Amino acid sequence: MRLSLRFVIPLLLAIAAFAYIAVLVADTLMLRWFGRDLDIRSNLIATTVQEPLSNIIVTGSIPRITLYFNRMLLDERLYAVGLCADDNATPVATAQFPPEIKCSSLGKFSDDDEHVLRSPRGVLHISVRPIETGATPDPRLVLVHDMSFVERRSEETRRYLFYFFIALGASIALITVVIAQLSWRGWVQGLRSLLRGEGILRPARSTTAPELQPIARDLKDLILDLERQYRPLDGSQRIWDQEALRATLRSELHGNDVIAVSNREPYIHVQTPEGIKLQHPASGLVTALEPVMRACSGIWIAHGSGSADRDTVDRHDRVAVPPGHPLYQVRRLWLTAEEERRYYGGFANEGLWPLCHNAHVRPTFRSADYETYRAVNAKFADAVVEEANTKDPVVLVQDYHFALLPRMIRDRLPDATIITFWHIPWPNPEAFAICPWRTELLDGMLGSSILGFHTQFHCNNFVDTVDRLIEARVDRESFNVTYRGGTTAVHRYPISIEWPPVQLATAKSVPDAKRAIRERLDLPLDHRLGVGIDRLDYTKGVLERMNAVARLMELEPRWIGRFSFVQIAAPTRSTIDDYRDYAGRVRSLAAEINERYPDAKFPPIILLNEHHEPDLVYEYLRGCDVCVVSSLHDGMNLVAKEFVAARDDEQGVLILSQFAGASRELPEALVVNPYDADQCAAALQIALTMPENEQRDRMRFMRGVVREFNVYRWAGRMLLDAAVLRQRERFRATESLATHV
Ligand code: F6P
Repeated sequence: MRLSLRFVIPLLLAIAAFAYIAVLVADTLMLRWFGRDLDIRSNLIATTVQEPLSNIIVTGSIPRITLYFNRMLLDERLYAVGLCADDNATPVATAQFPPEIKCSSLGKFSDDDEHVLRSPRGVLHISVRPIETGATPDPRLVLVHDMSFVERRSEETRRYLFYFFIALGASIALITVVIAQLSWRGWVQGLRSLLRGEGILRPARSTTAPELQPIARDLKDLILDLERQYRPLDGSQRIWDQEALRATLRSELHGNDVIAVSNREPYIHVQTPEGIKLQHPASGLVTALEPVMRACSGIWIAHGSGSADRDTVDRHDRVAVPPGHPLYQVRRLWLTAEEERRYYGGFANEGLWPLCHNAHVRPTFRSADYETYRAVNAKFADAVVEEANTKDPVVLVQDYHFALLPRMIRDRLPDATIITFWHIPWPNPEAFAICPWRTELLDGMLGSSILGFHTQFHCNNFVDTVDRLIEARVDRESFNVTYRGGTTAVHRYPISIEWPPVQLATAKSVPDAKRAIRERLDLPLDHRLGVGIDRLDYTKGVLERMNAVARLMELEPRWIGRFSFVQIAAPTRSTIDDYRDYAGRVRSLAAEINERYPDAKFPPIILLNEHHEPDLVYEYLRGCDVCVVSSLHDGMNLVAKEFVAARDDEQGVLILSQFAGASRELPEALVVNPYDADQCAAALQIALTMPENEQRDRMRFMRGVVREFNVYRWAGRMLLDAAVLRQRERFRATESLATHV
């Protein structure tokens, strides 16, 4: 209705304006038409009176002339009559003859347009006609007609026009409203049924106007597109960001302490010849947890591994971070070289890491390593208890370095809410069972309130392992494990990155990033680039992706010298033989592939075997054409998500291993089997020749997912689940009190 009014009111105003103009035109025309009539009439009168009047004039009797004129006035239209002998004479005229008409000014009334005189007596029509008497000059007869009848008729016409336009306006408005209402309903219904799919899928029943169908189809596609991009995919309707996470903590967990525990610290202080420098480690765990801690505040306990870490803490071994804008504390724990070698290098990275990854590297278990692992876990448990301000803190235990820690915390802080997240895959029960301390590890992990994995597959593996290896009650409906009187909820929480990434605020534009990288590497501006960014870990499939680049050069030689693959390989775990071997093999394969093309202007592989700070990493992600993540086995792989987040230009292609958890969330990437060099080479070829609009479509989908499933959601979902568990605990405590009373 409001829509119709919006149309009808301007319509009525237009009609009123049109009516006003019509009246003006009608007035002018009537005056002209009746003026012409009176001219003709005056001619007729002049011709009729010519003879008698000329005789009377010749006799020269003014009273006779006046008498004759008065007789002429019997004609009801004739208002006055006069006669001018010459220009200087006074008119001989009837009583009403207008005094404005002088004999000297008669000339202007002989002009066609000047026949009308607007006098105080009304509108008069003046006609001047010569009367032939033989005198020189001929006297002139002045016939004055009353035009007030024209005024009256104009008035009447105006009234009729006014009624006519009112009626016209009302009818048009009414018809418009009715048609608008009917057709709007019809359109809306038509569109609705089309959007429901009825018009398209069941055209026989469709009542929609055929001309609307293409519009509706486009509209439907657009809506589905937007829905897909913006719908919170788990149906929670909640948009997660830093503030939402903070609010969740406040409202659901009453602002409780958050204590995070990980081996790797978020900020490392290192001694350099130029003084103490800050380093951001290459670690998916840190990438994910750091923005969460910025939102939650609290304290993060981690191993102080930097050469200048001791120089930068306070007397409680704490340092406020981020530097310059502190939002939370890092509590550094010091490990001896022996502890680091056995707990981190030994049990965690030579034992558990290969145990959990299918990368064909055999795990090595040593009891001395396990003992140290247990001792270091206990050390971290002490730190958690020291840092807890309440008896029921929320503790976020991170990763495979701390499988025993949840139980240790539970023993000392029974009311704590312990959320453990396992950042790497969990193997099947047979694979896990080779670990000599399998039951201890499971027992330790089941001290958690919540145990999170990236994928449902890993949750299933864990629950199967528990079922197979220890005496626990496993509820496969709720995925709860009840063990030693406590319950652990085993859930899938796919990890992610912050959205938008903090680096984007200061990042170069994509064209500038492209230029900067090519200048740094001495490459021409149009040189095509692939990028891989990894710790130099045997699980990352770095050898496999280099072989794929070599295969691409064989299959598509046109890329020789025109495409290079930049591998940023951050040194990692270099005290471990397997890692040192792997780094050596990567270096020699890169050199060997480049040697195959001695004539190429630019080498196929550019290996940058050093740590790169996040700003530079983002520059590569923004400036490359293709990003390759070819992990042989990976819990999630956040580089894939960082690449997607970095590309706000919606360009660039992601080649992603089917064995990385990220491939479940980003199927719009070119998903490959990294062991299949031919398939990976084909994917590189597709990526390098992919039209821009296809790149945009794929990138847009992936960005929608990463934006939606950001790291605040990851943490927020765990905290919400923790809040529910705490509430249930409280109910249970009240119930048991009631039964004892
Ligand atoms: O998930 C990311 C991850 O692989 C963790 O499992 C691991 O702790 C980290 O990155 C990096 O490893 P490190 O701490 O040994 O450098």
